[in-house]
Amino acid sequence: MSRAVVHHAPGVDCNVSIGGRTVTAMAEAVVDLDAIAHNCGLLAATAGPAGMMAVVKADGFGHGATEVARTALRHGATWLGVTSVAEALALRAEGLTAPMLLWLYPPTETFEEVLTAGIDVSVGAVEALEVLADAADRTGTVANVHLKLDTGMSRGGAPAEEWAQLFTWARKFESAGLLRVRALWSHLANAENPQASGLLAQLREFDEARQAAAAAGIDPPIVHLANSAAALHLPQARFDLLRAGIGLYGIEPVPGRRFGLRPAMTVRAQVLLTKRVPAGTGVSYGPDFVTDRETTLALVPLGFADGVPRHTSGRASFSIRGVRCPIAGRVSMDQVVLDVGDLPVRAGEWAVMFGPGDAGEPTVAEWARWADTNPHEILTGIGHRVPRRYESIR
Ligand SMILES: Cc1ncc(COP(=O)(O)O)c(C=O)c1O
Repeated sequence: MSRAVVHHAPGVDCNVSIGGRTVTAMAEAVVDLDAIAHNCGLLAATAGPAGMMAVVKADGFGHGATEVARTALRHGATWLGVTSVAEALALRAEGLTAPMLLWLYPPTETFEEVLTAGIDVSVGAVEALEVLADAADRTGTVANVHLKLDTGMSRGGAPAEEWAQLFTWARKFESAGLLRVRALWSHLANAENPQASGLLAQLREFDEARQAAAAAGIDPPIVHLANSAAALHLPQARFDLLRAGIGLYGIEPVPGRRFGLRPAMTVRAQVLLTKRVPAGTGVSYGPDFVTDRETTLALVPLGFADGVPRHTSGRASFSIRGVRCPIAGRVSMDQVVLDVGDLPVRAGEWAVMFGPGDAGEPTVAEWARWADTNPHEILTGIGHRVPRRYESIR
């Protein structure tokens, strides 16, 4: 089926106009919004009747927060999740009015704009409750808060010894009409592994937190715990709302299991130059790579400034015409050299860094292995100078 390009990322275009001249971008990240729609529908259906929060922090894991949010909200998502005030307000400025949770902010945040924009705030400390109550008073609003409880990850959220105090103050501000506890929530450290003892301990701890909240008179309409992995394979963690990030972008989150998610991003760049070289030719910095035979080298304008991890030198491959072509020598800031062997590659052909994997190209999961990291870091690492282009046939 043929695809129609419907639009480009706001402020970015693959054809950049400079002084009346059109310059074609050498590389692009193609975002398949149909894949986002499919993944969103699949996650929402699997975890239903729980609602679905599309986690669009970090510019929608590099895919473009606004585009992903719009698509997700049309395909089963009911909430948006972000980690900075700037991200939250930017989405509101784009006209996205859906319920939204903000879970990171500086100690100096006054919350006036946040509350006026109708954004829910995660709170894991009494001090933040006080600031929010104050802001609600000043702005004539009621602050919707999600009390975040640390159930064993030792990252965000109130530790168990502070729960009672947090609940007491939340009740006080609720009674004063300044605040509404809309949710209790926590985050799992290892939802991918159902055998992990830490996971079971966290589930038990979350249960205790809910009981402690109920005993303190806190009975919020929403409880949420599950990320993508938990949403897909841990029914006991689904509660009322799941927070889906990586699954929404089509990366299978549970090792060894496939749920039918479709990767949404393809990153590719045009070959700029090819050269035939003899055995014994040093390539790139060092050089730490020397050709062991006569071969063809292809220059591709994507480097570590664009999100090709430097650490993958000597390990990773791109694909050209579906054929894997290893990176020869060190990854530079703006370019890599591929060893394409005897493949008759010409300048102007596309070299694919990663994509869904259907046509022989590497996947994000493979890049994550080559770079000793997770797929999240590969996706969010794709730099701003790679223009995002959106495709959809719907
Ligand atoms: C608090 C929180 N909830 C949910 C998510 C989404 O998790 P995942 O990408 O594993 O679906 C994240 C992502 O990092 C997160 O930090």
